[in-house]
Amino acid sequence: MDIAKDPINVLQITDTHLYAVHSGTLLKINTHGSLSAVLDKVSSNEGQIDLILATGDIAQDASPSSYQHFMKYMERFDAPVRWVPGNHDSGDVMQEVAGELGLSNKVELIGNWQFIMLDSSRINHVDGYLSAEELRVLETALKEAEADPRIEHSLVTLHHNPVPGSSAWMRDIGLRNDREFLALLRRSPTLRCVVYGHIHQALDFKLAGIRFFCTPSTCIQFKPEVIDFALDSVNPGYRRLKLFADGSIESEVIRIDGSQFRPDFASAGY
Ligand SMILES: [Fe+2]
Repeated sequence: MDIAKDPINVLQITDTHLYAVHSGTLLKINTHGSLSAVLDKVSSNEGQIDLILATGDIAQDASPSSYQHFMKYMERFDAPVRWVPGNHDSGDVMQEVAGELGLSNKVELIGNWQFIMLDSSRINHVDGYLSAEELRVLETALKEAEADPRIEHSLVTLHHNPVPGSSAWMRDIGLRNDREFLALLRRSPTLRCVVYGHIHQALDFKLAGIRFFCTPSTCIQFKPEVIDFALDSVNPGYRRLKLFADGSIESEVIRIDGSQFRPDFASAGY
């Protein structure tokens, strides 16, 4: 994937929560249907796509079929796809389904940007944790970036939020070893941004000189700044990240139109 590009056009598609069966619904939203609507929006809005990052909760049921469905959906775009597991996923099943296609690769280079894909999931836990092995992948890649003159900028992606969400109920579902993670990032002169999903909302903020992006799910949305679980009425969408050779970033969340995908607002959880 080592091609000179300026800017690199990256799309983030997250929390698709697909089921093996196309009729599967999450809080009354048909997740296949809402993903298809988001992908139609991508098709009508985007030109050349250089990379698609699928940042976890790709499946709701962790079935091989749900991952095969996702890969099939991605075939309409002429772009490489990289995915990381979320709390609803199985990293092992994802790797198996991906086969030799490289979707589960940990590190990629496009132009002078390095992409580091981390697995923050652990079985039967909603919250996230980066194992010693994942932290080693991160540390090695960031060190490599310092030594390799081709790499000037790094982007790190994972499913779980490494910064607490703004709603009280989200306090305990984020990345548990966030301090360790952030300490590694702060030491890196090439680290520019962190891209994640999990809390189903649009966020774009700076912390310690690093830009953080969280992106709406392609199905249900979580309301920010509330005490108890609540759904938001904003539409599903995706994020576009334009990564420039000078390290600057332009980003935008694009949502579908209409009111076709409305969840069950009375729900007390998901
Ligand atoms: Fe999710």
